[in-house]
Parts: sequence; C-alpha cells; structure tokens
Amino acid sequence: MKVDPSDIKKIIQQYRKKKGMLISLLQDIQAVYGYVPEESIEVISTELSIYPVEIYGILTFYTQFYLTPRGRHTIKACQGTACHVMGGKEILDYLSDKLGISEDETTEDGMFSLERVACLGCCGMAPVVVIDNNFYGKCTIQKVDTLMKEYRSKEVK
Ligand code: FES
Repeated sequence: MKVDPSDIKKIIQQYRKKKGMLISLLQDIQAVYGYVPEESIEVISTELSIYPVEIYGILTFYTQFYLTPRGRHTIKACQGTACHVMGGKEILDYLSDKLGISEDETTEDGMFSLERVACLGCCGMAPVVVIDNNFYGKCTIQKVDTLMKEYRSKEVK
C-alpha cells in the first residue's frame, strides 16, 4: 500500500492535542498499513514536533511494532520453556527452513512472516504455534506443514 502523507496527517489529527498519544498514534498507523512506514515517521516528526529518534525509540522498544511490511499471515512459534522442551525449537527451525526465511522476516511472496515468541500462556498445549490469531497446540512438524498448506490453499480459492 502506497503511503500518502495526507492520510498520515488525517490519523495524526485525531491525536493532536492529546498527551502521551504517540503509542496510540503509531498503533493506528500500523493498523492501516500493517507496519509503520518510514515515510510516516517524517510526517509525525514534522506535524507534532517530535524528534524522529524519539519515535524510533518507541518503535524499537515495543515488540508490537513493525518497521517493514508483514506477510498476510504471521506465524508465531512459542519458544517458552514448556514449548522448548516439547520440541518448539525444532518446529521453529523447520518453519524457517521450509519458508526460506529467518525470524522476523517475510517470505518473498508476502504470504508469511515468522516470529519467535515467549510463553503464550497455554503451556499445557505445548508446543504452540499461532497463525494470525489462531492457536494450534501439540504441534508437530507434520501438523505445521499441513497448516501452512491450508493457509496457502485458502489464498488460492
Ligand atoms: S511455553 Fe509455550 S505456551 Fe507457555
């Protein structure tokens, strides 16, 4: 999606007189683009008189923010203790090999992004993989392979 500075300014307008609004503003921008485009940082800096370094500080501190475009589906492989013990590392390595990307990267076709996450709070289902907002427990390499095929086939239909 192309970044139009006037669209960014419209989002900024809602926050102009609010204190402590930067995180909410960045969340709104990410909701529109799927990440926080570099062009938006320049606009925010100019419009709200905030140094770009302050904006980058927030973007790099909070793991919820992305600075590059994301895939249409985000795969999160839990690497918390329970998941690690139950084979979560092997699943993450398999996903990385199969997709041809490292953690925090996106496949060339823009289909999948891959992330390592800490405990997701459902250790009884270890090892856990989350695709978008769907949790999959007791994962195996065969199961994640099937899931990737299912997500790909949904896109084709
Ligand atoms: S360690 Fe993976 S859900 Fe807790």
